[in-house]
Amino acid sequence: MSAPPLFYKSSLLYDLLMQFLYGRYLEERGEALAKQIDRGCSVLDICCGTGELFRKHLRQKNIEYQGVDLNPVFIRRLQAKGVSAICADARAFPVKARSFDYVILQGSLSEFSSAERTPLLQRLHQGARRGFLLSESIRHLIYHQTSWIAKFATRIGRPLQSSPEEPFQRLQKADLEDLMRPFNPYVRSMQVICGGRTMLYVLRPVGDQAVYKV
Ligand SMILES: C[S@@+](CC[C@H](N)C(=O)[O-])C[C@H]1O[C@@H](n2cnc3c(N)ncnc32)[C@H](O)[C@@H]1O
Repeated sequence: MSAPPLFYKSSLLYDLLMQFLYGRYLEERGEALAKQIDRGCSVLDICCGTGELFRKHLRQKNIEYQGVDLNPVFIRRLQAKGVSAICADARAFPVKARSFDYVILQGSLSEFSSAERTPLLQRLHQGARRGFLLSESIRHLIYHQTSWIAKFATRIGRPLQSSPEEPFQRLQKADLEDLMRPFNPYVRSMQVICGGRTMLYVLRPVGDQAVYKV
């Protein structure tokens, strides 16, 4: 595996990058998710990163939180702060049907190859008792019209595990809509938030009885 991207080497650097990218919308991004979650519930946050969602938006709601991320740097930092977090690969992490009230995947779909995305989404959806929340960015600097910005963003923003078979790409609105089409019967709500930067899907729970029609 190649060396991790710079911003994955430090929780502080990563949080600064997110602040820079989202600016005043960072708060809105977390708050929009937190609003969907009832007090005192259990939450599985897959690809939790530095746990910003829990630290800033969920902790005060008395949530039973479980973060999962592949990056040991982020996980060690979270554990040092007393947050329940496991270093594991989401692709192999066992999520039993209806095992958490809410399952969350935020800003992380592009970390997975196109073949991995649908099975992952299905497993996470089935793991939820009350709802599966998917929040995904749809505007990316790697597609910026100024070529040096696009090149720089591509260099610093590549996924933790880039696939040699697939060129690095980030999901745009139409890609996400295509990916979510089989889940449409289960969509409780879909909002475009953060000034058009992010889509938030809320899916009703199904357990392992789900039927995903392509
Ligand atoms: C763009 S960050 C998003 C972090 C956080 N959810 C947020 O919205 O700020 C993507 C995260 O996915 C993690 N990640 C990448 N591949 C993963 C995998 N296979 N299993 C678990 N986590 C993974 C990275 O370490 C990183 O923390």
